Amino acid sequence: MVSTGQAPAAQLRVLVSEEALRQAVARLAAAIDRDYAGKQPVLVGVLKGSFIFLADLVRRLSVPVEVDFVRVASYGTATRTSGQVRLVSPLKTDVRGRDVVIVEDVIDSALTVRYLLPYLRRRRPASLRVCAMFLKETGTPPPVPVDYLGMTIPNVFVVGYGLDYAEQYRQLPDLRVLE
Ligand code: IMP
Ligand code: MG
Repeated sequence: MVSTGQAPAAQLRVLVSEEALRQAVARLAAAIDRDYAGKQPVLVGVLKGSFIFLADLVRRLSVPVEVDFVRVASYGTATRTSGQVRLVSPLKTDVRGRDVVIVEDVIDSALTVRYLLPYLRRRRPASLRVCAMFLKETGTPPPVPVDYLGMTIPNVFVVGYGLDYAEQYRQLPDLRVLE
């Protein structure tokens, strides 16, 4: 067994239950279904954190979608942003003339989304929106438009539901606070 020297998951406080996550995803899917009726949007998941959220979201959608991913790095293994966003894996899908939705796990400093919006806009999509499961309450309004938001959360470091600390805890089915 690998020992990480970190807190066992059972000791972490649950911030958002599985049921609350499920309800938020259902609300988001209903809004996207309504707005993209008759269309076939391309959902661009931001790896790695969004993989569980995106998997849940697409299974609640009725509109046909395409899925692709970009991978960005901004955190390394720390709990604070490095202030820099690096594109680790670019988008492969040609999104020219397509309706694109960025699917992000959590918006904190919003650096990631602020980096991705112009990156995707340069590819000339017909439309470009942002869907985020969590938005941290930082005291100031987010510097990016969030078209679809699951929920706001306090400004604490969270893990689970795809989110990691040093690559740990992503598999937790609920959202927990790393204290
Ligand atoms: P931002 O660029 O500061 O908005 O942060 C976006 C990225 O940082 C997210 O996609 C996450 O991967 C990561 N991140 C931000 N806050 C947390 C957190 O509380 N736990 C785990 N990852 C986080
Ligand atoms: Mg991360």
